[in-house]
Amino acid sequence: MIVVTGATGVIGRALVGLLRGGRRPPPEVLAVARRPAGDLDCPYALADFERPETIGALLSPGDRLFLNSSLWPGFADAHRAVIDLAARAGAAQIVSVSVRGAAPGGRLGTGMHGLVDAHLRKSGVPWTILQPGGFLQNLPHDFRDGVMYGSYGPGPVSYVDARDLAEVAASLLTRPVGPDAEHVLTGPESLSHDRVAEEITRALGRPFRYVDLPVREMTAHLERQGMPRPLATDLAALMAETGDGRWSTTTTAVQDLTGRPPRSLSAFLADHREAFA
Ligand SMILES: NC(=O)c1ccc[n+]([C@@H]2O[C@H](COP(=O)([O-])OP(=O)(O)OC[C@H]3O[C@@H](n4cnc5c(N)ncnc54)[C@H](OP(=O)(O)O)[C@@H]3O)[C@@H](O)[C@H]2O)c1
Repeated sequence: MIVVTGATGVIGRALVGLLRGGRRPPPEVLAVARRPAGDLDCPYALADFERPETIGALLSPGDRLFLNSSLWPGFADAHRAVIDLAARAGAAQIVSVSVRGAAPGGRLGTGMHGLVDAHLRKSGVPWTILQPGGFLQNLPHDFRDGVMYGSYGPGPVSYVDARDLAEVAASLLTRPVGPDAEHVLTGPESLSHDRVAEEITRALGRPFRYVDLPVREMTAHLERQGMPRPLATDLAALMAETGDGRWSTTTTAVQDLTGRPPRSLSAFLADHREAFA
């Protein structure tokens, strides 16, 4: 059985749809949700990472686990506990969502994912770690009222479509379990945030712009939005780090693992016009 955590999220919904829809015969899939999720059109069980044993109880020998949720302070402990329970249950594979540049001690999500990745690598369960850059799905939220503020600077960044991540995961979870591996997932292109704003402007026919702020001003901007200072400080600094070139290269991982090229920004925009309303 393929057990999909985070099934009600952006990646999870796309993954469940792919697993249920595309393959004949469809694999046995169990979605994991925190609340009733009848709209998933997939058998599901209620469980919560904050009580890792509720997820461990769903796993049987030979199961393949898609490990994903969102970030919160208890994220690393909860995910490490679920990995231990999966090992104890005899899981055949864990495919885990991380982030590009994850490393213990890194800022925010990069640090949390780094701890989980390190734990997974020595879990004894065959593993694949997916390390995506930023999701194109963030952009409608980031460009609030047509303006995005950030500290990325002028450097290009490669965004990836979360649907491509789901396609990679679906491929890995339905083929024979391969050797342990990590894959940096990117889109096909790398664009500065000014270019991203230009492309959205062209695609939607109304003005969008990116405003670059020094880290200190971006921190104050985030605080005015209600973000606590330590988080705002780290997030602004992380933006500057992301834009310094380390997320500028693209990889062939999506093409290699799915057999088709990753979706571009323009393809994403064609499908998500209404999300920018
Ligand atoms: N966004 C980006 O640009 C980006 C870039 C790189 C990596 N990532 C990584 O991608 C992951 C997020 O994936 P996503 O976009 O699919 O997330 P998402 O849309 O926010 O969905 C998160 C999913 O996790 C579930 N979840 C959260 N806390 C849970 C808990 N305590 N117990 C059980 N389920 C829980 C949510 O359930 P509910 O529906 O009940 O909330 C939801 O199904 C994170 O690890 C993030 O670091 C994101």
